Amino acid sequence: MKIAIYPGSFDPVTYGHLDIVERGAGLFDKLIVAVAKNPGKEPLFTVEERIEMLKESVKHLPNVEIACFQGLLVDFARSRKANAILRGLRALSDFEYEFQMASVNRKIGNIETVFMMTGNEYAYLSSSAVKEVASLGGCVKGFVPDHVVKMLVEKYKRMNIDFPE
Ligand code: PNS
Repeated sequence: MKIAIYPGSFDPVTYGHLDIVERGAGLFDKLIVAVAKNPGKEPLFTVEERIEMLKESVKHLPNVEIACFQGLLVDFARSRKANAILRGLRALSDFEYEFQMASVNRKIGNIETVFMMTGNEYAYLSSSAVKEVASLGGCVKGFVPDHVVKMLVEKYKRMNIDFPE
């Protein structure tokens, strides 16, 4: 059984992430999408909210599981008996960070990272861009699923930012 972990912040999940999940689910017997509880980052959505939005987004994919982890990714991967880490690559600017992370994880965890090129239509997309557009009142309908648009609307409404539905 080939198991892969697709880790990330998913704050929020975008169509770019979901493109990787769909294609990754076709390559592995089981794909575990793992939300990082990263104390170094100040996320917009709580871990529970990010898990909820991911679960809703992948409910049509029977071999995809949503989980969260704290600490080292390689420890989580070992605990779930994963054979590989899956990551998406967009532009060249992703390369240096991903190269370092994959090398460190192989060194400390003896685990391979498999890269998938993000679909061309999502090459420009990032969670940060989605948050910036949404926080300034722009429409993010083509960037994230409708239920995530709703969650962004709610979040920014609570922060008193006018957001078009
Ligand atoms: O979506 P992101 O923010 O690019 O995901 C980064 C993530 C969560 C995959 C990365 O920060 C991570 O693996 N964090 C866990 C801590 C860890 O294992 N660090 C060592 C790798 S250099």
